[in-house]
Amino acid sequence: MEGREPFLQGRPDLSVDLGGIRLANPVVVAAGTFGYGQEYEELLDLSRIGGIVVKGTTRHPRPGNPAPRIVETPCGMLNSIGLQNPGIDVFIEEHLPRLLDRGATVIANIAGDSVREYAEMAQMIEKHPGVAGIELNISCPNVSHGGMHFGSDPALTREVVRAVREVTTLPVIAKLSPNVGDIVSIAVAAQDAGADALSMINTLLGMAVDVDARKPALGNVFGGLSGPAIKPIALRMVYQVRREVDLPILGGGGIMSTRDALEFLMVGAGAVSIGTGTFVNPTLPLEVVKGLEDYLRAHGHCRISEIVGAALV
Ligand SMILES: Cc1cc2nc3c(=O)[nH]c(=O)nc-3n(C[C@H](O)[C@H](O)[C@H](O)COP(=O)(O)O)c2cc1C
Repeated sequence: MEGREPFLQGRPDLSVDLGGIRLANPVVVAAGTFGYGQEYEELLDLSRIGGIVVKGTTRHPRPGNPAPRIVETPCGMLNSIGLQNPGIDVFIEEHLPRLLDRGATVIANIAGDSVREYAEMAQMIEKHPGVAGIELNISCPNVSHGGMHFGSDPALTREVVRAVREVTTLPVIAKLSPNVGDIVSIAVAAQDAGADALSMINTLLGMAVDVDARKPALGNVFGGLSGPAIKPIALRMVYQVRREVDLPILGGGGIMSTRDALEFLMVGAGAVSIGTGTFVNPTLPLEVVKGLEDYLRAHGHCRISEIVGAALV
């Protein structure tokens, strides 16, 4: 005990290894909810966030879906942004150097129209040093191509992950869709094809109706539901996958507090992602980092890994 006390008065070790990506702490901001960081860099020190998964990027610029594209729900939000983004060249040439200058750990999030396009983008990223890993968005519910269908079928998941695996040495994270009957089979397919980690979950397909206009509230009719409403589903899926698959998991969906983050870690996520929560409170990611540190210290833990999987029964 004497030996432990001085350490516990110091800082617990929050660093994690997410499939080969070294993160200073396990709190990552989720793709599409943090842009390329510009809107946030005045509000918080980007180098103190464990990792930044940047806006979902496609091979060519995309205008996104018709408005309205956001609807608030009682316990979260629906979005049908549809991967609006300036394309991978702009990400690599403009945004990546700026984020790296600010000391951010950058994870790229890519969506292709075809298996070949995923591989092509991975190769482009590989050529420009600085990206810590690639998250494959095979789960976007808001686009007709390059989205959810890749992550809804184990054979297609395997094909995309394998194609990217063959062309890059960077860590590859497969981002899974919750809009499937059997999430474990998709996770196993990603693992078999050589993914280094899993990210889960993306948004759940939903809709809302404008009763005055008597039509769907979103221009694209359907959208992706995120926020607190999806947390129980996300936790259940992380738990199920953790039981069957060995890959590290970046877990998230509805994290709005340190306690929410702890829940994900305790069902076996090695790191957590915060999306909708940063819309409500832009400094939430750093508050959660501090909250995790306080929790570890209060419970006499030296390392974050000591609580990962603690609630698996
Ligand atoms: C406005 C918005 C845009 C998003 N864009 C992307 C995206 O481009 N790529 C992606 O993989 N996920 C995207 N997502 C999903 C989030 O990264 C995250 O997986 C999901 O919102 C669940 O987490 P949360 O409840 O903490 O927001 C988006 C979510 C929102 C709300």
